[in-house]
Amino acid sequence: MMALWVAACSLLMLCASFSGVEGIGVSYGMIANNLPSPDQVVALYKANNITDVRLYHPNTTVLNALRGSGLGVVLGTFNEDLARLASDVSFAASWVQSYVAPFAGDVRFRYVTAGNEVIPGDDAAWVLPAMQNLESALRAAGLGAVPVTTAVATSVLGSSYPPSQGAFSEASLPMVGQIASFLASRATPLLVNVYPYFAYASDPSSVPLGYALMSSATGGTAAVTDGGVAYTNMFDAILDAVYAALERAGAPSLEVVVSETGWPSGGGGPGASVENAAAYMNNVVRHVGSGTPRRPGKAVETYLFAMFNENQKPEGVEQNFGLFQPDMTEVYHVDFAPASA
Ligand SMILES: *[C@@H]1O[C@H](CO)[C@@H](O)[C@H](O)[C@H]1NC(C)=O
Ligand SMILES: *[C@@H]1O[C@H](CO)[C@@H](O)[C@H](O)[C@H]1NC(C)=O
Repeated sequence: MMALWVAACSLLMLCASFSGVEGIGVSYGMIANNLPSPDQVVALYKANNITDVRLYHPNTTVLNALRGSGLGVVLGTFNEDLARLASDVSFAASWVQSYVAPFAGDVRFRYVTAGNEVIPGDDAAWVLPAMQNLESALRAAGLGAVPVTTAVATSVLGSSYPPSQGAFSEASLPMVGQIASFLASRATPLLVNVYPYFAYASDPSSVPLGYALMSSATGGTAAVTDGGVAYTNMFDAILDAVYAALERAGAPSLEVVVSETGWPSGGGGPGASVENAAAYMNNVVRHVGSGTPRRPGKAVETYLFAMFNENQKPEGVEQNFGLFQPDMTEVYHVDFAPASA
């Protein structure tokens, strides 16, 4: 009996180690004039075993294409709409009536996100009231099960090194602290965009490339030791700095979802190459199921940035974060079903 239980348990743990893979999504950025139709895009997600999609703003053509797809959908608001969402209850209600309610029967909404990377900044004060109005509007529409959150950049951190010293900056803390309390009381995660690439690119002579790429070549070599903890990759170090900051801000239980991470395949920046992008993205997919040193074993729900190269973004690396070209050919391969490998 005992032996059977142990066998079943280890089988379950094996399953658990694969289940993190289900939490991999890809951002569907649309700042381009040459992308395939939304129906083709949804089919491309499905064909690649990508389970979740992040949309930066509502679009009813895209939402219609997602009907019945089974994909989890993170739906953002335009940053430009935050002030009105925050100050006008009826606008929040009509936003929900236009973009969530008509689709909720056939579209699996994961989160509604009020704004992307607006803290700190001029619109930061609108984020929490916009979240509150969207939540009320969703509840009034019978859609209270859809959680409301926001996505922040790691520029909310004033201190991130070593990871255990992670803390929000003075400029960000007033808003992020209140948002963290709001989210923690609802057990809704905070979304964070995490880019080892930009940290590497800003100082390539002192940041080891393998540490930024999370490559197994340096997997045994800790580039950072923090107390008793050895960090072999920057992704974990950044995430743990966010967890430490949330602990300092009084929200130790708050979960974090990585709402963007990526590496450019070209565009001329330091380390921007197809080989590095392929290595980074595949490393992320393989790694996030096992958590970070501060949250070991806790799979990190993660969204890769992005589905396509986007030709209307600023020139350079910004146009080269896609997994796919606009003609739907792969820029490089990401294996979203490593269990089949
Ligand atoms: C998607 O998953 C199916 C079944 O799990 C597998 O047969 C197929 O090869 C996968 N496709 C890709 C592109 O990984
Ligand atoms: C919605 O997306 C489609 C397909 O990408 C695009 O053609 C259309 O212009 C978008 N609609 C709005 C209102 O942005």
